[in-house]
Amino acid sequence: MIKIDINNELKYIEKVRKINEGKNIKYYILTMGCQLNENDSEKICGMLENMGYAKTDDINNADLVIYNTCCVRENAEEKLFGKLGEVKKLKEAKGTIIAIGGCMMQEKHIVDKIKKSYKYDVIFGTHTLHKFPQDLYNAIIENKKVTDILDIDGEIIEGLPIKREDNIRASVTIMNGCNNFCTYCIVPYVRGRERSRAPEDILNEIKELAKKGYKEVTLLGQNVNSYMRVERERGEAISEINSFSKLLKSVNEIEGIEKIRFISPHPKDFTDGVIESIRECKKVSKFIHLPLQSGSSKVLKVMNRVYTKEQYLSLIEKMKKTIPDVRFSTDIIVGFPGETEEDFEDTLDVVRKVKFEQIFMFIYSRRKGTPADKMEEQVPEEIKHKRFDRLKALYEEIIAENNKEYIGTVQDILVEGYSKTNDSFLTGRTDSNKVVIFEGDSDLIGKITKVKIISEHMWYLRGEVIKELRLEKN
Ligand code: SAH
Ligand code: SF4
Ligand code: F3S
Repeated sequence: MIKIDINNELKYIEKVRKINEGKNIKYYILTMGCQLNENDSEKICGMLENMGYAKTDDINNADLVIYNTCCVRENAEEKLFGKLGEVKKLKEAKGTIIAIGGCMMQEKHIVDKIKKSYKYDVIFGTHTLHKFPQDLYNAIIENKKVTDILDIDGEIIEGLPIKREDNIRASVTIMNGCNNFCTYCIVPYVRGRERSRAPEDILNEIKELAKKGYKEVTLLGQNVNSYMRVERERGEAISEINSFSKLLKSVNEIEGIEKIRFISPHPKDFTDGVIESIRECKKVSKFIHLPLQSGSSKVLKVMNRVYTKEQYLSLIEKMKKTIPDVRFSTDIIVGFPGETEEDFEDTLDVVRKVKFEQIFMFIYSRRKGTPADKMEEQVPEEIKHKRFDRLKALYEEIIAENNKEYIGTVQDILVEGYSKTNDSFLTGRTDSNKVVIFEGDSDLIGKITKVKIISEHMWYLRGEVIKELRLEKN
């Protein structure tokens, strides 16, 4: 593992801060894509606030606009081009600085297109996040267009300032990149090879969070449960904490943290050790995201997912037997090349059998440079959409069924604050990530509270705080 020295880059934070001093300068940031990108954006915000920028949600008030981009599906890319079209007017009117970063910038054809047809000041990639202050400095001082993309691999960046979105729940990236090369997926090309942060850096970060009053952490990575795998194979995992199962146990011991989640694991890395840690560790959520992608063994093979329908289902069975009250969410792609009606029925079959609490459903999107893009049997758009609608209908049936099972149960809810849609209710989530709203005092915010579920409303549950238990706890 190569930790890169970022001290030189961080000096630019001070330089930009001096330029900005006393100027009341504002930034606007839009983050697309997954939680890893959101976590990167928190670091961008951390750097910016140290550089004297204040955040604004009104793009028209911003001196600097940052887009942190995603390229996992075509619609994410279209979104950026739409935004770049809009921000052009702002730049022409008041000279707004435009910075574009993230996964999409690691694609050469996209950077070429932006350079040719759009306005920008800084383009930075996923491997140059730490150089953002320097790039911004060069753009402001020298009035240059800066493109700073690297294709290197294996490096770990530690020590960037961070400005977190929330003060109860925090995300902690534990590994970067992906080595799986699922044939539909662009991520390994834009995020580089799998590499894990040192356990002591992760644990120190979480201990600091606990000290600041954070209650929940989500461990992030494209393949979290293969944490330290490549390092182990290369003989570089020197700490005793050299696997995901051991990391979970160590995080579980951190005082103050009450809930631990992780996303995304891969079914192939769900070892007995990981299952055992989930069962044993009281704080680890029993709500597991287990990406299925397809229920057809034939499609899974072409996707390079390295498990079959039967192996997936027996993993689910094993976890249900080992971990009391375990529940599942998943990701499913509809319309992968060569997917027949029969293959799709296999997907529906797995959905019926597992009764997922949450399904993230995606229509297959061709990604330039991936093997699946070159496959001949692309499924027509109309069929993809029809299958998507059928999957969605089944999902809604299952949610309604699952929801009924909650009524009358008592759930431990980490109270997040007042509901955004109705501020006379508090809101929080069950372990299985279902939103629950209920009446209660503001002193419950940030605490785990027992709530009895009284009714279900498709996308949320209504509950009542159990008063006696709360008094006992106090
Ligand atoms: N590493 C994670 C997440 C990857 S991206 C994992 O393996 O689960 C999140 C989801 O986007 C994937 O799980 C997959 O369902 C979906 N996805 C990835 N590439 C896609 C594509 N080309 N078209 C449609 N969906 C895609
Ligand atoms: Fe993409 Fe597969 Fe890696 Fe997930 S595991 S990021 S789907 S290549
Ligand atoms: Fe998108 Fe990059 Fe995440 S491509 S899904 S933002 S890793």
